[in-house]
Amino acid sequence: MYLAFFVDRGHTVIPSASLVPQDDPTVLFTTAGMHPLTPYLKGQKHPSGTRLVDYQKCVRTTDIDEVGDPSHLTFFEMLGNWSLGDYYKRESITWSYEFLTSPDYLAIPPERLWITVFSGNDVVPRDDESEVVWLELGIPAERIVALGEEHNWWSAGSEGACGPDTEIFMDRTGRPCVQGSACLPGVCECDRFFEIWNNVFMSYERRGGEITDLPNRNVDTGMGLERTVAMLNDLPSVYDIPTLVQIRDAITEPLSTVGADEATARALRILVDHLRASVFIIGDPTSTVPSNQGRGYVVRRLIRRSVRVAQGLGIDPFHWADSSLRVVDLYGSTYPELERHRTHIHEELRSECERFLTTLHRGMRKLEQEIERLRAVGGGVICGEVAFHLYDTDGFPIDLTVEVAREADLEVDVEDFEMHFAQHREKSRGQRAAGGLADDSEEAIRYHTATHLLHAALRQVLGDHVVQKGSNITRERLRFDFSHHGAMTPEELAKVTELVQGQIDQRIDVEREVMTIPQARDAGAIGLFDEKYEGDVSVYRIPGFSLEFCGGPHVNNTGDLGRFRIVKEQSAGAGVRRIRAELEPIESD
Ligand code: ALA
Repeated sequence: MYLAFFVDRGHTVIPSASLVPQDDPTVLFTTAGMHPLTPYLKGQKHPSGTRLVDYQKCVRTTDIDEVGDPSHLTFFEMLGNWSLGDYYKRESITWSYEFLTSPDYLAIPPERLWITVFSGNDVVPRDDESEVVWLELGIPAERIVALGEEHNWWSAGSEGACGPDTEIFMDRTGRPCVQGSACLPGVCECDRFFEIWNNVFMSYERRGGEITDLPNRNVDTGMGLERTVAMLNDLPSVYDIPTLVQIRDAITEPLSTVGADEATARALRILVDHLRASVFIIGDPTSTVPSNQGRGYVVRRLIRRSVRVAQGLGIDPFHWADSSLRVVDLYGSTYPELERHRTHIHEELRSECERFLTTLHRGMRKLEQEIERLRAVGGGVICGEVAFHLYDTDGFPIDLTVEVAREADLEVDVEDFEMHFAQHREKSRGQRAAGGLADDSEEAIRYHTATHLLHAALRQVLGDHVVQKGSNITRERLRFDFSHHGAMTPEELAKVTELVQGQIDQRIDVEREVMTIPQARDAGAIGLFDEKYEGDVSVYRIPGFSLEFCGGPHVNNTGDLGRFRIVKEQSAGAGVRRIRAELEPIESD
């Protein structure tokens, strides 16, 4: 209905993009419908025109620990309509209102809608324009609340396209909570208001703390499908919508009775959410399978947590994994990639359950030995180091260690565990933020610097969407994977080679600097880094050409590289290209 409504108003339906952002190393997953549209919001022409509408699959992992309450999901579907420099506030708000309240569409009683608008800051004035439109549509002033940047300013990250927004809430109870007149949408923490739609007026760009105008005034809207369906049907939680109920039923099928208590409800919501999210992540056109890093670690966590939760409810984890087939049945016609990956999804889920169960078994044996040992010496506390070792080498979760210890009348020094955990995390973040070269032979170092030159040259020739996807260096060659659609033309390859060689021939000194991530980003540094790492990072500069996060080492002068030659350019997966290049040995003089 949503798509048809906007098609009737001149929009073109575009397909849901991959859950894996193609051009953005700063986020693991597509978190909103606007992610894949970023270049177009910045002014690039979209092949489908200036009015677009879609449903986009999204994963947000920031709330992962809150999944289990009535409103949080890691995976959700977002409905969105866009104006790329076409219509603006008046049309956007009027259409939202019409879609929500018209008897031909959602028929929500207008008196249940509350609105928030941007109250202004030093750079962008209060959004009176939006307020006027809402008033003209009949929303009384008492139900329009103006709020500041922390509520009504939207951006996908600390940099990039952004703008003020107006948010639409549904009033679930019709009366204030104990907060009285302070019970307002976006502000009050009670469950009276539920945000269903956000209309962002993306006409600004933030770069290095500076806000500038984008070339176009755009609209980006996002409506949570699960939330809206729940509200329309007066359901107490997003987990009560029909599709999610069907997934829950598939998971609980082997149980003769299902507890009606809150703890069981919570556990079931976790199983439902994590199953659907895992199915979509593994079944994405750019499939991610469980592993120990990045996206792979997210699915691993989703599955492993589910195994434990399922066991707690007396559900066989493999049955939980088998229920993925039901998820594919439900969503496969909308997302055909799931249908294509049906067997792959099912097998990956089952093998990860299997791996984790083996781990649990092994960890349990080690833990039992430790308990025996402590008993023999009359000790009462399992130290943090042992708990961390179990966690780190066996993937044995700390809560499980605590639980098993408690059954044996022992305690775990959780504080000590957390200290070990934090130390370990700092160390690995530092390593990631400054990912260096493993082989530091002279040859490998030359290839390492050549990789920086290549990366910068590709971005100059092909554009800023080029982002490193992988790099592999031996003493004989470099291999560099980067985001780009379609094969490079011979002209592009020649241009890139020429740029790299130009930098080599100019014999430029390579400089290393240490700075914070924001400083490095402001200076325009590219490359892979961990946003959350708070320590200093090192960057390597080839003045006037390249600035990249990197742990080194590099040659002192580009002149040491000799002759650079691209040997091969080929595909390395959807939207990813791979270049192999060689350096000809330098003649000793
Ligand atoms: N991009 C906006 C959001 O995700 C619509 O809320």
